[in-house]
Amino acid sequence: MTATTGQHARQDMQTVVTRTVGQAREHRAGLQGKVALVPTMGALHDGHTEHIRICRGLADHVLVSVFVNPTQFGPGEDFQKYPRSQEVDIKKCAQAGAAGVFTPSVDELYPPTKPGVDIEVPSLSADLEGQQRPGHFQGVCRVVAKLLNIFHPDFLSLGQKDYQQLRVIEAMLADLMMHVRVVEIPTVREPDGLAMSSRNRSLDAEQRQRALGLSKALRQARSLVEEEGETDPQAVEQAMCSVMQAHQIDVDYAVLRHPKTLGELTCVEPTLTGGVIALTAGRVGTVRLIDNMRLGGPAEK
Ligand code: PAJ
Repeated sequence: MTATTGQHARQDMQTVVTRTVGQAREHRAGLQGKVALVPTMGALHDGHTEHIRICRGLADHVLVSVFVNPTQFGPGEDFQKYPRSQEVDIKKCAQAGAAGVFTPSVDELYPPTKPGVDIEVPSLSADLEGQQRPGHFQGVCRVVAKLLNIFHPDFLSLGQKDYQQLRVIEAMLADLMMHVRVVEIPTVREPDGLAMSSRNRSLDAEQRQRALGLSKALRQARSLVEEEGETDPQAVEQAMCSVMQAHQIDVDYAVLRHPKTLGELTCVEPTLTGGVIALTAGRVGTVRLIDNMRLGGPAEK
């Protein structure tokens, strides 16, 4: 696979790079058959390429967007420092068999002279990431809605790694009657359990070890619930918190929630309630990481 820049008529086995909305629409219009969209913020890792791989099995063409979306970052967050590696990303997309990569500028997706629109799913976004990062999900919903309106894909690929984002986007699609099938991609992990994340690149060797506290806390929760039969959510949450603190992680949250509503639980009974989701978030130095795991469902690595 090779990547071609600046042209938008796809030739066989070539990955077309588009930079403007006009080029992207034109490229899309020339694609026959089913199209899958993989939205990303770049700094691609094997978790991202797994989306492309799975989507290739479902659709005739896979399109990837690489755009660090400013509206989902709050003031003082890492928008400027967010890792960027566009040329390498384009090569990875080409190697993974993407038909196209869309890398717009900020002004292209957010024309400065046009009034903006907010999309919000209050019942799912007030808590957890939404509480830690006010306005974050409005920014996510806005950019995803724009990408869907540009590409009109048949499939939209979303990772379980960003669990709340997945539920929020699903709710937006349902309520706004946006016709696209969501493909849920399981979290790809490093061999030691750390969930792959673009932000892992910002960790030094010592922080990389400490970051394992997020996934270890989730495994601890799984073992307490599934093997020891613990039913008190607070006991499990306390145990998760202790694991994270033992790894010197500044804990933002370590909680058990209902997998669909993300509501608090009074009792942990995965077999009765259709599962429980454990979610962790915290800072290792200045790097903020999140992770999650289903409890009481089919075993995850
Ligand atoms: P980003 O963090 O780049 O993630 C892009 C997609 O890859 C998301 O669906 C995310 O859940 C998924 N992903 C991230 N890490 C993963 C892993 N270890 N295994 C499997 N999938 C993983 O999420 C965003 O970008 C943005 O919010 C976006 C949806 C693109 C809107 O700007």
